[in-house]
Amino acid sequence: MIYFDNAASSWPKPGGVTKAMENYLNDFSANPGRSGHKLARQAGNVVLGTRQRLAALINSPSSERIVFTLNATEALNTAILGSVETQDHVITTTMEHNSVLRPLNYAAKQGVEVEIITCNRNGLVDPDKIRSAIKQNTKLIAVGHASNVTGSIQPIEEIGEIARGADIPFLLDAAQTAGAVPIDVQKQNVSLLAITGHKSLLGPQGTGALYVADGLTVNPLKYGGTGSYSELEEQPFEFPDYLESGTLNGVGIAGLGAALSYIEERGLSEIINYKKNLVYQLINGLKGINNIQIYGHVNGVETVPVVSFSVSGCDSSEIAFILDSVYDMAVRPGLHCAPLAHKTIGTFPEGTIRVSLSVFNTKDEVAAFISAIKEIVKDMT
Ligand SMILES: Cc1ncc(COP(=O)(O)O)c(C=O)c1O
Repeated sequence: MIYFDNAASSWPKPGGVTKAMENYLNDFSANPGRSGHKLARQAGNVVLGTRQRLAALINSPSSERIVFTLNATEALNTAILGSVETQDHVITTTMEHNSVLRPLNYAAKQGVEVEIITCNRNGLVDPDKIRSAIKQNTKLIAVGHASNVTGSIQPIEEIGEIARGADIPFLLDAAQTAGAVPIDVQKQNVSLLAITGHKSLLGPQGTGALYVADGLTVNPLKYGGTGSYSELEEQPFEFPDYLESGTLNGVGIAGLGAALSYIEERGLSEIINYKKNLVYQLINGLKGINNIQIYGHVNGVETVPVVSFSVSGCDSSEIAFILDSVYDMAVRPGLHCAPLAHKTIGTFPEGTIRVSLSVFNTKDEVAAFISAIKEIVKDMT
């Protein structure tokens, strides 16, 4: 199988991930942060190690401000629903994933005013439109770092500056960028960062995190046991425990730690360059095929390795089905959980064929994909 669905979940994982998860399960799968015995301490150290690695990856001033979640969706729900109340105003964009749009729509039903800024056809938001939308009751600016449909990276430095200047928390959805582009929450003025472990961070499913800037309060979505302050009947107001109720996914976090150490060893910039070359090869190959339209990848727009395209007159699901059944290649067709993004780039409701690359894909795989698409398009048009 040639796997090009890494924006959904990356596969394969670095070898160390399985090993770390196996070790955790077999050797010391006790409850991290509870009980205090040797095995619990060993599990706790693994959790702490991954927390510290994540903190280093995004330049968080401290690892306590990294809260583990199940995925980016849980992090985004906590950040959004824990930050806004009735009559607050939130600014977001049309390129957002449903994991941002749906909690915001829920909040809107509770009386929160949600303002959605329309992006251009390449999926980019104009920071000035965000600046102009700010009102006295604006309590959050929520933006996706990179689109999971077009791959385009938003001008987050400018948005972060605007948010900082107006003293409004800036929530960045880094589901497609953590492990794919450098992130520096301090330099980029990010107050809340939603991360997922199972995409470009190369970790297992069931892992993610929310970074919360020092001094910022976000109400928990869940209340319960934290292993700390057991004498208290109320949720302890200490990070990360405040937002981390219930036993963590220790085995997943062990795997994520190993994935992060793979990224550290190989080097993020080497990984970025490797994938950039594959994207370049893919785009050039697709451009040479008649009737193909590529979305978002234009000069001057930075992207993650996500390429969406359509073939005029052809159904994307049919092409994906042929790729899977005849060529043993995995892509994602249709709408990618971001309906407004498709409306923005003009691919609603038919959607696109999305090819998303990982550091384990190769030039030969990309070349094979281009040949396959050439044959399919020839047969279908
Ligand atoms: C931009 C974006 N945000 C959020 C999510 C949700 O991520 P998760 O599946 O880890 O909850 C995704 C997943 O595809 C995404 O692409």
